Amino acid sequence: MFKKTLIAVMAASALALTACGGGTQAASGGGADKKIVMGFAQVGAESGWRTANTKSVQESAKTAGVDLKFSDAQQKQENQIKAIRSYIQQKVDVIAFSPVVESGWDTVLKEAKDAKIPVILTDRAVDSADKSLYKTFLGSDFVLEGKKAGEWLVGDSKSASGTVNIVEIQGTTGSAPANDRKQGFEEAIKADPKLKIIASQSGDFTRSGGKQVMEAFLKNNPKIDVVFAHNDDEGLGAIEAIEAAGKVPGKDIKIITIDAVKDGMTALSAGKINYIVECSPLLGTQLMDLAKKVLAGETVPERVVTEETTFTQEQATKALPTRQY
Ligand code: AHR
Repeated sequence: MFKKTLIAVMAASALALTACGGGTQAASGGGADKKIVMGFAQVGAESGWRTANTKSVQESAKTAGVDLKFSDAQQKQENQIKAIRSYIQQKVDVIAFSPVVESGWDTVLKEAKDAKIPVILTDRAVDSADKSLYKTFLGSDFVLEGKKAGEWLVGDSKSASGTVNIVEIQGTTGSAPANDRKQGFEEAIKADPKLKIIASQSGDFTRSGGKQVMEAFLKNNPKIDVVFAHNDDEGLGAIEAIEAAGKVPGKDIKIITIDAVKDGMTALSAGKINYIVECSPLLGTQLMDLAKKVLAGETVPERVVTEETTFTQEQATKALPTRQY
């Protein structure tokens, strides 16, 4: 009995020692060889963009020598909040996350601030009035992306005679890209009163969501001229629905999307999508740099905007062979 207890105590002590001494420790723990520990709360794996973003963050962490703790929230805010709380408990050096939706973060962000763990927003913003709750926000200008999509349509519809009926497949309800892309697109199409959004619904940034929403749009609207999908995946789902309805995507119904992932660019090159506004998921390297600067006490800009372009069919065909994601 005594022998068994002794073995158990020795095993537990060995385990505790491994937990404390093995692997990485917080940068704040001192010592030159201490790795930075970053807790990263990802949105999910809803789209090709998201998969590329996760890969970028994971690979960049490795290259930068950052010990990355990664969690996938499956597009649920409560899962992300849980993940952030667990990172606080684990006393990571820095927390980075891409908020599923814009609202409802103040409490957990205050908890991180009280624990003196800096937070970096990546990809998506929060609507907190207190900007001291995070150090910086790295990501795209989603309003501008929506604007670029709308401006292309204004140009493309110049010679159209009657009303141009647009259906909009929105991203995740309440998310920054869905709110902002909608806003930017609506602002731009105001330039031409014949451009009308006749229906708008969320496809949750997924291919299946885009397909489902488009099927319903096609059922309820006899004349659809244009689809504005908030990301490529939704646009690709819409293509499936349009083809199943016996129509030709890109011709009978024009399609504009955002992201420019390989599958989207392939559909653009094949003429099934008409225009794509780029949204870059390759944020990993910049994120690691910002984290290092924040932890070194350096001043970082409050906002870091990603540089992006747009693609026509011809440009997509040219870009495809070297496209990274
Ligand atoms: O937040 C970025 C958006 O989220 C991308 O456009 C979309 O594909 C993703 O799911």
